Amino acid sequence: MTADTTATAAPLTVPAGLAGVLVAETAIGDVRGTEGFYHYGPYSAIELAQRRTFEDAWFLMRTGRLPSAAERTGLLEQVGRFRELPPALTALLPAIAKAGNDFHPLAALRTALSFLGAHDDVPPLWGSPPADRAAAALRVCAVTPVLLARLYRLRNDLPVVEPEPDLPTADYWLRAVTGAVPDPDHLRAIDAYLVSTIDHGFNASTFTARTVASSGADLVSAVCGAIGTFSGPLHGGAPDRALDGLDEIGSPDRTRDWVRAKVSAGERIMGFGHAVYRTADPRAVLLREIGRSLGGELIEFAVDVEKEVVAGLAELKPDRELYANVEFYAGVVMQQCGIPRSMFTPTFTVSRMVGWCAHILEQAADRKIIRPSAAYVGEPPKRPVPASGMSHLR
Ligand SMILES: CC(C)(COP(=O)(O)OP(=O)(O)OC[C@H]1O[C@@H](n2cnc3c(N)ncnc32)[C@H](O)[C@@H]1OP(=O)(O)O)[C@@H](O)C(=O)NCCC(=O)NCCS
Repeated sequence: MTADTTATAAPLTVPAGLAGVLVAETAIGDVRGTEGFYHYGPYSAIELAQRRTFEDAWFLMRTGRLPSAAERTGLLEQVGRFRELPPALTALLPAIAKAGNDFHPLAALRTALSFLGAHDDVPPLWGSPPADRAAAALRVCAVTPVLLARLYRLRNDLPVVEPEPDLPTADYWLRAVTGAVPDPDHLRAIDAYLVSTIDHGFNASTFTARTVASSGADLVSAVCGAIGTFSGPLHGGAPDRALDGLDEIGSPDRTRDWVRAKVSAGERIMGFGHAVYRTADPRAVLLREIGRSLGGELIEFAVDVEKEVVAGLAELKPDRELYANVEFYAGVVMQQCGIPRSMFTPTFTVSRMVGWCAHILEQAADRKIIRPSAAYVGEPPKRPVPASGMSHLR
């Protein structure tokens, strides 16, 4: 056999990062980047955040319509039952929480969920009835805040809090994390935050979830892939880093120099820029309003810093329109509501889990595996493979 040394890479036929490439049809929601608008099914997501509860938006994600009062209560009752952990998992959580020198809440969550998937015998999506898939999705979404809050408290040697099982998610979450009864304004702020972050187009974690689901694998495998993707600083891992930025700046008049130093060092300003929005991120606008309604020095400082960062980035990156994204004000609002910094991205995960699951169930109805191609740019193949010299191999 002769060596083929003629391999050449085919030219790329899609943009880097698949930006703007349509890869599926979805009825779950859409993001209109130039308008600064996004919606869940037929409703503006921002209006839902202003006028409805997280459970209403969750019901919408599951059924395509908003619930009646009785249906909302019914969902909460089901969620309350699904929040109960199997004793075998409860027994494992202290070891998961204490693993490593630092606390990695999303790594801990995916470890715990992997166990739960095996424990609950979650079946492959391929071939399982839609009702079973929907039940697995509800179970995973219901249990996510329970696991994250327990893991956080165990890690920090704080007593585990067991709120009433069928409390609405925002209330359950704030009690389970902070150990205190939340202020009603904080409750409303976090509820609106959760609604506004359920879904946001074909972002990297949603695409990952759908790719895993497209193979017919089980729902827990798909959410674990999504959690891993979400943990990155360019995606869900930015709100605490955005707040770290505010700490570094210290005072608004230092912002321009700080931005210049970061950008000239090749770094990105966390909480700014977006893959799709070329105008203000509507979630940042919503959260800035919420932050202002809660009041205090931090939000006023953040508003001043935002103006300075946007102006600085316009100067340094004139070819790109860079505005504050959801993460910038998410960190501020969560801090105002008493959520510890290490739990910012986990709070985002509580809501995004509902979006991932909606996408996984939608993908499961489509029997086509996602399998793109890559342009090979390595060495041309050499044939034959050189002999190893080991006697049992020819
Ligand atoms: C969100 C994000 C990943 C989108 O990236 P993207 O659309 O792929 O943007 P690109 O990587 O194509 O960047 C385009 C240009 O804008 C610059 N840019 C984008 N976001 C920037 C930021 N936050 N700070 C500084 N420069 C930024 C890039 O450096 C690049 O400049 P160059 O052309 O001179 O190299 C990006 O804006 C970012 O890293 N933001 C910070 C992290 C963050 O807040 N993530 C949460 C997103 S909700």
